Amino acid sequence: MTAAEEAVTHPVRVNLVFNERAVRVPYGVTLFDAASWNGIAIDSTCGGHGTCKKCRVRIAADPPAPTSLDIRAYTPQEIRDGWRLACRTTATRDTEVEVPPLTTRPKAATVGVGRQVILRPAVQKRYLELAEPTLADQASDVERVLAQLDDLEPRAELAVLRGLGRTLREADYKVTAVVLDDVLIAVEPGDTTGRRFGIAFDLGTTTVVATLLDLSVGAPVAVESTLNKQQPFGADVITRISATMMDPGALDKLQQLAQETLAELARAVCDQGGVAPDEVYEVAVAGNATMTHLLLGIDPEPLGMAPFIMSTRLYPEVLAADAGLAGTVHPRARAVVFPAFGAYVGGDITAGLLASGMDRDARVRLFIDIGTNCEIVLGNREWLLATAAPAGPAFEGAAIRCGMRAADGAIEVVAMTPDGLSLRVIGDTEPQGLCGSGLVDAVTGLVRVGLLDSSGRLISEEDARVRAPGLADRLTRIGKERVFVLHWRGPAPEDSIYLSQRDVRELQFAKAAIATGWRILLEEAGLTEADVKQVLLAGSFGSYLSPASAIRIGLVPGVPVPRVVSAGNVAGEGAKMALLSLRERAGGLALLEEVRYVELSDRADFNDRFVGQLSFPGG
Ligand code: FES
Repeated sequence: MTAAEEAVTHPVRVNLVFNERAVRVPYGVTLFDAASWNGIAIDSTCGGHGTCKKCRVRIAADPPAPTSLDIRAYTPQEIRDGWRLACRTTATRDTEVEVPPLTTRPKAATVGVGRQVILRPAVQKRYLELAEPTLADQASDVERVLAQLDDLEPRAELAVLRGLGRTLREADYKVTAVVLDDVLIAVEPGDTTGRRFGIAFDLGTTTVVATLLDLSVGAPVAVESTLNKQQPFGADVITRISATMMDPGALDKLQQLAQETLAELARAVCDQGGVAPDEVYEVAVAGNATMTHLLLGIDPEPLGMAPFIMSTRLYPEVLAADAGLAGTVHPRARAVVFPAFGAYVGGDITAGLLASGMDRDARVRLFIDIGTNCEIVLGNREWLLATAAPAGPAFEGAAIRCGMRAADGAIEVVAMTPDGLSLRVIGDTEPQGLCGSGLVDAVTGLVRVGLLDSSGRLISEEDARVRAPGLADRLTRIGKERVFVLHWRGPAPEDSIYLSQRDVRELQFAKAAIATGWRILLEEAGLTEADVKQVLLAGSFGSYLSPASAIRIGLVPGVPVPRVVSAGNVAGEGAKMALLSLRERAGGLALLEEVRYVELSDRADFNDRFVGQLSFPGG
């Protein structure tokens, strides 16, 4: 096996099958995190810290070597049978994992990046057996109900009063009161206390993810994702804002499409989880400022031009029906919309910070959500600085000649030595293009073998024959443009999957914008790269980026590789936390006061510093 082939044996993602569910997760994450990101509940009371020994899973076929904690947690026979602690077992190859059903009724749930939250949802249910009225007991129906809820002190909504008389009598005065914060939103016949659900939405510009949560036990019940139906209006927020500026009907249309996307997902997760729409009492939405403005029909135009002002940072309390979910959740269900720090550091980042516990940790950590717009937050529990850097479309594949999204056929890993290269393709099919992680790997490889110089220029063919004889034939031209062929599909370079000189420039621009962003934040804090104890890579792209490659090209600080961690879908995790815990929800709101936003676009030194970051370190 060549070194290049060996490198590809460490894939970016691995395939796991939890009971019947097949999922694809970043290489190296724990089975515990992988399960929780994908809506598979695993017992735990310690939040994945290896102390409760409850996260039992079984890997029947070829189990990994047990850790010292496994040996303490299991009998020798159980170890031989493949029982392991999910929070100590990492996903390093395709594996089938058996997850036993939950045995305990948890008081806390593990969400986000190893965060444990005490379950205290806004949705409370009480089973009531009420005394029937008599001529001597003339209390009204609602007084009867409220008298039993005096510790919650709710007020009753008109909608509840309308059907209350009939419900009480038909149910023989045995009913369940549903209280949302301080409002009685429903009285249901019989005992329904075991059934209360919420849906957490990560409303992305490209992809939207919904997680149905059982609020009683804090466990995910179903997860579905789909493309945002606004896609035909353009790939990024700017094109969608521009659409509303040019066409007076576009705002309504975009709102409708966002709402349809959420409604479709709500139906799908409820179907999958066997949950009736009426059993979903609250939803939480984490999205960037443009997406949440559009979802609620708020004109986004001021977000699109200097000085980039939002109509609001905090969203008022809205009914889920106002977010397009009428008929797909309970009619009185509420939608909690995450607040935004700024026009380009939105509610998805607020949710992400909540999920990653940036405001709780003593260590200095750097959070980077990589996408067309890249959000960067630096800090610890004492202070937090945030900024947004315009990275452009390189990572989405849009600006890259052979670029594509991370879907089947995309080259996701490229490993190179002077003698040759190996590729890993999503879905193990014929390569169709190059996705963001493959792009970063390809450029990193070219820098490492010396075919790209530190300024990002492909070297001459003659020099290439000396430096990398096994790769030199791949260095060629299409028209006037120099290209490096990653995969031949015929004799002509035009038919191949290649990386062009211009593609390298696109990546350089993106990398320079991001690196300038976090360098400025470090400087504002009076720190250096060495002070960063952990780098969290978030977002669909960041999660799959190879940490070694990200460090090699200077996209993230030059810290030891294990300090760069995939954080998964942190926006969705933050939305889950808000549904499970009123305390965490309040913590998310408090972040607005704790984060100081650093604007890059008005800094006189931004351009010089950006240019200074264009080169590849040590190339
Ligand atoms: S989650 Fe507690 S030991 Fe694994």
